[in-house]
Amino acid sequence: MAKYVSASLAILLLTLSLVAATTADDPSHSELSSKISEHSLSYSPQAQHFPNERLYRAYLVIQRFKSSITSDPKNITTTWSGSDICGKTRYAGFHCAITPGRAKILTVTAIVFNGFGLRAPRLHSFIDQLPDVVIFQASSNNFGGDIPHLDGLEYMYKLSMYDDLHDQYSETKTTIGGNVGIGRLFQLTYKVGINFGHSNGRALLLNRNSLSGPLPANLGISKLSYLALANNKLTGPIPSSIGQAKDSLLELLLLNNQLSGCLPHELGMLTKTTVIDAGKNQLTGPIPQSFSCLSSVEQLNLGENRLYGQVPDALCKLGRLANLTLAGNYFSSVGPACSALVKDGVLDVKRNCIPGLANQRAPAECASFMSQPKASCPAASAPVSCPAEAAADAKKMAPEGRAAAKDYASYVTYATLHE
Ligand SMILES: *[C@@H]1O[C@H](CO)[C@@H](O)[C@H](O)[C@H]1NC(C)=O
Ligand SMILES: *[C@@H]1O[C@H](CO)[C@@H](O)[C@H](O)[C@H]1NC(C)=O
Repeated sequence: MAKYVSASLAILLLTLSLVAATTADDPSHSELSSKISEHSLSYSPQAQHFPNERLYRAYLVIQRFKSSITSDPKNITTTWSGSDICGKTRYAGFHCAITPGRAKILTVTAIVFNGFGLRAPRLHSFIDQLPDVVIFQASSNNFGGDIPHLDGLEYMYKLSMYDDLHDQYSETKTTIGGNVGIGRLFQLTYKVGINFGHSNGRALLLNRNSLSGPLPANLGISKLSYLALANNKLTGPIPSSIGQAKDSLLELLLLNNQLSGCLPHELGMLTKTTVIDAGKNQLTGPIPQSFSCLSSVEQLNLGENRLYGQVPDALCKLGRLANLTLAGNYFSSVGPACSALVKDGVLDVKRNCIPGLANQRAPAECASFMSQPKASCPAASAPVSCPAEAAADAKKMAPEGRAAAKDYASYVTYATLHE
């Protein structure tokens, strides 16, 4: 792991030095940017003032977004002017890198707006128009509207996000710390490396905004590795197309929204996902049998919803499961494997309707819930054959090999929840 981490960092540093070289080797470019910053108030840069057409297009998109911002308490957007998008002192929150592979184009690859306090009615026509952005992180802003429809990435990226600052990073940190460029990412609690590899990946981290409307149906094809949308106002069901994200999605955080409907069968097909958190919503129906295919899941939170029925016992046999939270629902029974997890403190089923267990709802409350009309969730009981990888993984796992729960903050999405 350590070796892999430093290799990625080397590539990241290489990328940074390429960026630096591009800027330094090009006297016309630096002359131009000082000219432009002198005149930034009265001067609109033209296509020929940008290192390439992609950055010019990014400029137009950023300016349009800037004009839609209705509140900017820290005067961030005053830095968003001129043609030097990738410069060190301009365009706070935007980060550039050279595209991987043969193309080698300097382009905007990351946007980090955490705590900027920006308010805008929507994100449409912004991140969806910046096709090279692999990280969009904007916790605690005031972005409204629904989730922009993201298409697949044009270039191949491998997105790696690391937690906690190891010694090997301190040198890196001093080398590039203080830059407004990618250096700023290193001051977060985790680091981001973008390099090219076999898999595409993208992170959309938008906890604590004012996003509303349903999750887009094409969520699955947008090659997301990390999706964090906790504490927004999203409505409607979790789309079944989420299953298409099975090759990329590592963490999914939908905590504290107003999502409703049945849990889709396809959610159980996410065999690489380690975190699924849809707690504090209005989801209903039973847990689909397919959840027994979640062979990588470590943290599964479906607490504080309107789920009912039997907790599938096969779910409680998943070897990587370290924390299963189902508290505050209306489940009526658990099998032997789940009972064992309750005893071990891995499964929390407080405030349900399970006879014989402590801390359950009052029988009258359970009876009243069960007498209400219910949505039908036929897919939940559909027989399931897990994807081959999941079945192979499950075989490898000995029951005594259950891992202790990792530190909450070591998950990218949970770490961003506290920013
Ligand atoms: C932002 O700019 C306005 C007007 O120029 C100024 O009054 C205000 O103090 C600035 N705020 C910050 C946080 O710099
Ligand atoms: C388990 O998950 C729940 C819900 O996310 C969380 O509140 C709790 O702190 C977690 N427990 C541990 C030991 O990580």
